[in-house]
Amino acid sequence: MNVINNIRQIRSWHTINRGTRCVLVPTMGALHEGHAALIRAARELAGPNGNVAVSIFVNPLQFGPNEDFTKYPRTLVEDLAVCRDNGADMIFAPKAEDLYPADRSIQLFETSLSKTLCGASRPGHFDGVCTVVAKLFNLVQCDDAVFGKKDYQQLAIIRQLVRDLDFNIVLHGIDTVREPDGLAMSSRNRYLTPEERAQAPAIRAALVAARDAWKNGGERDPAALLQLIKQHLQQHAPLGRIDYVDAVDANTLQPVSSSTELVVIAAAVFFGGARLIDNIELK
Ligand code: PAJ
Repeated sequence: MNVINNIRQIRSWHTINRGTRCVLVPTMGALHEGHAALIRAARELAGPNGNVAVSIFVNPLQFGPNEDFTKYPRTLVEDLAVCRDNGADMIFAPKAEDLYPADRSIQLFETSLSKTLCGASRPGHFDGVCTVVAKLFNLVQCDDAVFGKKDYQQLAIIRQLVRDLDFNIVLHGIDTVREPDGLAMSSRNRYLTPEERAQAPAIRAALVAARDAWKNGGERDPAALLQLIKQHLQQHAPLGRIDYVDAVDANTLQPVSSSTELVVIAAAVFFGGARLIDNIELK
């Protein structure tokens, strides 16, 4: 497994590996079983002769001024072991000053899909995500890239990025990996106190209850489904503070309309300083 820390090295890696299919898994490190599933999916896609590249970079541009950039967990040694154990061939772990020279003056802005859900409470976040992902796509020169459906809005925005900026890259969305009690795996779960950790699975349980009401109970009113989720959370997760719960069109992330084919319900809940997200498709 090659570990590459700077742009010069990645350019020569790319030259050596020209013609070999490359599948990229972009991450911010602090890898858990959810990331491992993405790396394994990338391994499958790349096949025995292809390359699986994992980027590890805590992107300052996507953190707001009051967010957890400085305390975001950085566990490179353990991360490299996860990458190796799950079949990665190359790790790209650049330094911030390499990706963002002090005099840089160009970045990307997303003006539609990022205005709802997480984007509404994290202004600028998805602009930072788009900018770094575009840079990673350019640097790694991958053929495919793998993202988790846990970050549903992120995946939708990256799809738009690929289309709008004509990246010749195929995207793959991977189902959310969960703890046995249903909590979506997240690098931020480690911030939870034992009491918060005990209540956090209520996010998933509330979303499943709404999906059941839609699927088996015939409830089609988004407002009623959102109400059900809020009540469930109030009852089972009193330590949680709801940031948002919303039902949107899965493709446009805009309010559900008569042309909506698939509805996704997404939620973000604060437990202390940890902001946890999850979502469920109504199907
Ligand atoms: P990070 O939060 O490290 O997530 C990296 C990838 O892992 C994302 O595609 C995310 O959706 C996926 N992932 C996280 N938890 C998961 C889970 N429980 N099950 C399945 N997949 C999961 O997302 C980012 O980093 C950054 O925004 C990034 C795209 C790397 C840009 O900086």
